[in-house]
Amino acid sequence: MVKSIVLNVLSLFTLVSIGFAKNVSDVKDCPALSRRTPSISVNDLRADDIKVIGALGDSVTAGFGIMGFDKNSPDFIASQKSKLEYRGLSYSIGGDGGADTMPNFINHFQPKVFGASVGSRLAGICTADKCNESHKPRIDILNGALSGAIAMNLDGELDYLISTMKSTKRIDFENDWKMINIQIGSNDMCGACNTSYMDQVTPEKYGDYVDSVVDRIQSSIPKVIVNLLSSFDLSQLFELSAANSQYCVTRKDETGDAGCSCAANSEGLKKMKEFSKGYDQKLLKIYKKHRSNKSNSFAVAYQHCNLEFSKFSMEFFRFTTLDCFHPSLKGHTWLSKAFWNQLFLPQSRKPNRLLFNTEETIYCPTDSDRISID
Ligand SMILES: *[C@@H]1O[C@H](CO)[C@@H](O)[C@H](O)[C@H]1NC(C)=O
Ligand SMILES: *[C@@H]1O[C@H](CO)[C@@H](O)[C@H](O)[C@H]1NC(C)=O
Ligand SMILES: *[C@@H]1O[C@H](CO)[C@@H](O)[C@H](O)[C@H]1NC(C)=O
Ligand SMILES: *[C@@H]1O[C@H](CO)[C@@H](O)[C@H](O)[C@H]1NC(C)=O
Repeated sequence: MVKSIVLNVLSLFTLVSIGFAKNVSDVKDCPALSRRTPSISVNDLRADDIKVIGALGDSVTAGFGIMGFDKNSPDFIASQKSKLEYRGLSYSIGGDGGADTMPNFINHFQPKVFGASVGSRLAGICTADKCNESHKPRIDILNGALSGAIAMNLDGELDYLISTMKSTKRIDFENDWKMINIQIGSNDMCGACNTSYMDQVTPEKYGDYVDSVVDRIQSSIPKVIVNLLSSFDLSQLFELSAANSQYCVTRKDETGDAGCSCAANSEGLKKMKEFSKGYDQKLLKIYKKHRSNKSNSFAVAYQHCNLEFSKFSMEFFRFTTLDCFHPSLKGHTWLSKAFWNQLFLPQSRKPNRLLFNTEETIYCPTDSDRISID
């Protein structure tokens, strides 16, 4: 009797440690994956297959404003700290020690993963028509995101990514499995009310730009999975901040609400909402296009995040008093987990809405989990 109980407890323990998924608060507590021969197909990728990680995007991916703004500075909007990109803390591509980021989660399973951006630097703000701010390779590494970028600028960001991948000795360009996270659309939807480039940010144009950058990744980078993250519907944020006047100091800036032309009135906000939905439909279409044309070395995953900003606590942006949409460190920490956790779920099981939660845990993938493209 006693013996069988001990045996049962033992076997249960073994099952828990090797067979069952669990959620943890520190990725270091995730059990390692059993060794296996690296995958030969993109349809069979585990976290430990990813050797190279890169990203394209805008200021959120660049890590702009994560540690907040120096409100005590006499001219705080112009102060240095107000213009820093904390690239090492960016949820999708940061690699600072101990930060909750996708590269650091992968690193737990594949210590050789390369490409995460580190540390911080002054932002090189780009505008739609002038987005040729040069990268700082030692900090940016494979984070091609540029503050201010719209989908039209992704092609230029990809130039940087491709040339850096090719010239980096640590990268085996032909053979390493690569993952590229793309999140774009915030400046696009804001620009829907700026006459100088509103014709470049329609859902149609947005879709064309993202589609062509994904096609170019397919034709120029071997062995790669593109992870498309849906747009963030910022209109909800401006509504939220209108009800929290302390939080967003430049909200009433007549030149266009923290650089977001559409945030100035309800018609603009309505347009942003509509465009954000339109962008996501285009991303889904791009995902489906590649899903129906399977290959062994290229695939597109799509994470429809549907962030319900209107129900978020202000902690998500707590430090970001300068403008109305850059997430704080808590915000980035949560985003990294929210996106990581759904990476292993098939499309039908991904959550259809996401709510900010400071207690969010990290899913530990098991030997049988794959980065889902289905
Ligand atoms: C892990 O968390 C997810 C929700 O994020 C939940 O659906 C799942 O059941 C949890 N798994 C375990 C083993 O606790
Ligand atoms: C509109 O876009 C142009 C070009 O990027 C920029 O110079 C201008 O400041 C923008 N206007 C507003 C109101 O944001
Ligand atoms: C950036 O682009 C602008 C206009 O497209 C051009 O005038 C400028 O010389 C470029 N700067 C760099 C550093 O390439
Ligand atoms: C399918 O993918 C191949 C490359 O794997 C590409 O050459 C071809 O154009 C694609 N077909 C369609 C219909 O997209």
